[in-house]
Amino acid sequence: MAMQDELRAIEAQFTQNLLDAQNMEALEKLRVSVLGKKGSLTAIMRMMGKIPPEERPAMGRLANTVRANVDEALKQRSMELSKKAMHERMQAEAADVTMPGRRLSRGTQHLITQIREEIEDIFCGMGYIVADGPYVETTYYNFTALNAPENHPSRSAKDSFYVVDNAPEGKPPLQLGDSDVLLRTQTSGMQVHYMEENKPPIYMICPGTVFRPDTADANHLPQFTQVEGLVVDEGITFGDLKGTLDYFCREIFGKDRATRYRPHFFPFTEPSCEVDVSCGVCHGEGCRFCKNVGWLEILGCGMVDPNVFQYVGIDPEKYTGFAFGIGVERVAALRYDLPDLRMLMEGDMRFLRQF
Ligand code: DAH
Repeated sequence: MAMQDELRAIEAQFTQNLLDAQNMEALEKLRVSVLGKKGSLTAIMRMMGKIPPEERPAMGRLANTVRANVDEALKQRSMELSKKAMHERMQAEAADVTMPGRRLSRGTQHLITQIREEIEDIFCGMGYIVADGPYVETTYYNFTALNAPENHPSRSAKDSFYVVDNAPEGKPPLQLGDSDVLLRTQTSGMQVHYMEENKPPIYMICPGTVFRPDTADANHLPQFTQVEGLVVDEGITFGDLKGTLDYFCREIFGKDRATRYRPHFFPFTEPSCEVDVSCGVCHGEGCRFCKNVGWLEILGCGMVDPNVFQYVGIDPEKYTGFAFGIGVERVAALRYDLPDLRMLMEGDMRFLRQF
């Protein structure tokens, strides 16, 4: 075949192949097959020297034109292909910005946390400080300095979770009750800690978890929440106690609930009482919720026993005070007429989401 025919044939073949090259990879292959070291056009260029000199200029021009055409066509096709690739990618990755978004559910605080914070707010509003204390206590803080005699039933291993160390080697194993470390059964120990570290006037509350070896039932949990309160100042009377706790009950339950103060015994307060709030279901008539009593107990309280002041070095002749311990789960149950305290521990979102 004459050289010019071959050149035309190469160009024709290239043009044909160019249409078949559907991506950059195929295009590069095509380029190499024509312009590469072993490419068809390169081979022809190499033969240029062998043709008669008079034909060379014309052949040279033609070869250069073909080469320029090929270059230009490759450039064009390359641009087309990259545009096409970009277009395809944009289609594949397109997001419909008009589609409604997916709402993240924010969750809520657990009911007990909400009520604990509400109680904190009420007392902060009266100028109290919120303190925090250890969940693991010694018997000194949990009982002794709270004026509980050595034989007080609440000290027994039946009523307290003692933390028992392994006995040293060679010694008999420790029995429950031998230990003087326990999970606190009440937040009242914080009264002692706080009075050891702060001088009167004291207006303090301490919310926290307490532990007792009770089997969970509708009214009891082995782990629950108390808010301890302590006031120590000059001239504090039972009237201050009653005014404060009545105000608290009205704030937390609303004005239509009545309170009543029932005499009771606590080792660390004298006199002591338990405070009941009228049942929200029957308003005091008596129903299943309040076990036909018409009232539900929510806290214990009393005037600080002078013996407790003596343990922490506060002069009982100069200062008087009152203390109280609120059961937060009881408050929740009363406020929302919860039939069973265990609902607060189970983590059932259908229940918890309501609050
Ligand atoms: N600690 C008591 C209990 O767990 C509640 C209590 C009663 C706390 C009287 C007090 C108080 O501060 O004065 O049953």
